[in-house]
Amino acid sequence: MQPVVAIDGPAGAGKSTLAAHLARRFGFLNLETGAMYRALALKAIEQDLDFDEEAPLLELAHYTKIALEPQREGNRVLVDGIDVSRRIRDTDVTQAASKVSVHPHLRAWMVDQQRALGEKGGVVMEGRDIGTAVFPDAEVKIFLDAAPEVRGNRRYRQAEPVPQVTEEAILKELKERDYRDRNRAESPLRPAEDAVILDSTSMTLEQVLARAEDIVRAHFSVQ
Ligand code: DC
Repeated sequence: MQPVVAIDGPAGAGKSTLAAHLARRFGFLNLETGAMYRALALKAIEQDLDFDEEAPLLELAHYTKIALEPQREGNRVLVDGIDVSRRIRDTDVTQAASKVSVHPHLRAWMVDQQRALGEKGGVVMEGRDIGTAVFPDAEVKIFLDAAPEVRGNRRYRQAEPVPQVTEEAILKELKERDYRDRNRAESPLRPAEDAVILDSTSMTLEQVLARAEDIVRAHFSVQ
């Protein structure tokens, strides 16, 4: 079996950029599990469902087809055949994804799908619980972290200029999500015991990518 590289960490730490880079570098598939929660959250918004009620959300999941298509940068995301790659990045979907992801049965359903996607290995899978719940036996686990202010500032600089969106608003949204993701009862965001913690607060992107490449190389005989 080909290896699994698990990348977890809070919002805005740079997981997607890192996952896409490692996937290109080592010829692996790059899978963004957050996009699956976002895709379901989008459908829940469209159907006006209550994010606090698990049963209707789980039922919705059972008849929703979510597809991730790895691209050079990130994933193309299809819900029932419709490309929602851009829409799922909007703020309403972002917050809704964090809210729907607290439910244990819904998480179990997602984890099953994610294990199936990664079962052949040769993947860099990125999310919040990959090293702790989805692939606890993953060969490489990286927990990518950074101070909230740094993550907020990076998100602000990456965002397309929207006049009414301030850096403060982005930081507030990010902290709310962090709190919910870290404090939920079911597989909260935390590093796996055997994860390498990479704190990118004072690192450049190039330094993070180089360090992560070294971590992967140290585990496998890949060049
Ligand atoms: O990685 P992201 O920002 O696209 O994730 C969106 C939300 O989905 C995040 O706030 C929490 C949830 N999520 C999760 O609970 N478990 C994952 N493996 C990935 C994302």
